[in-house]
Amino acid sequence: MKLRLFLTALLLTVITCPLIRAEGGGATPLEKEMKTMNKAFKQLKKQAADASQNASSLTLVAQMAKAADTATSLVPAKAADLPEKDRAAFTASYQAKLKDFSAALAKLEAAFKAGDNAGATKLLTDLGNLERADHKEFRKPQD
Ligand code: HEM
Repeated sequence: MKLRLFLTALLLTVITCPLIRAEGGGATPLEKEMKTMNKAFKQLKKQAADASQNASSLTLVAQMAKAADTATSLVPAKAADLPEKDRAAFTASYQAKLKDFSAALAKLEAAFKAGDNAGATKLLTDLGNLERADHKEFRKPQD
């Protein structure tokens, strides 16, 4: 009887262990860059209109640019779900879109440097639109 209890407990541990691992700390390297991007972007949206924060805003833009740059050398998890023949084109398209995103970030940097806070606010909306479109294309469908 005790042995059966022990074996049941062992079985449960074996079954649930991968689930626990998937929940905690299982972020892909790309997800980590995206988290950095997300944190900086959220803060930027709060302070972009405030010219007295422009030095800090420039630091946040630089954090996003660095994350976007690192992300270019990574491959989205969705690539593994595609047929082998489609993967190279998918990755090339992902890299091209990140390049466009980086170009938009460079415009945002220029706006803050020029003290154009109204322009910067508008550019943040553009970046948000790029984020939405690119996630639709390159992220695995969310469950
Ligand atoms: C304002 C810009 C962006 C923000 C704030 C942002 C934010 C995020 C966040 C929060 C995640 C989820 C991370 C997690 O699950 O822990 C994510 C995932 C992802 N993002 Fe972004 N993102 C941005 C732009 C982009 C762009 C421009 C691309 C591609 C051109 C992109 C591609 C992806 C992909 C592929 C994933 C899934 C991660 C994976 O496959 O491993 N994102 N992003």
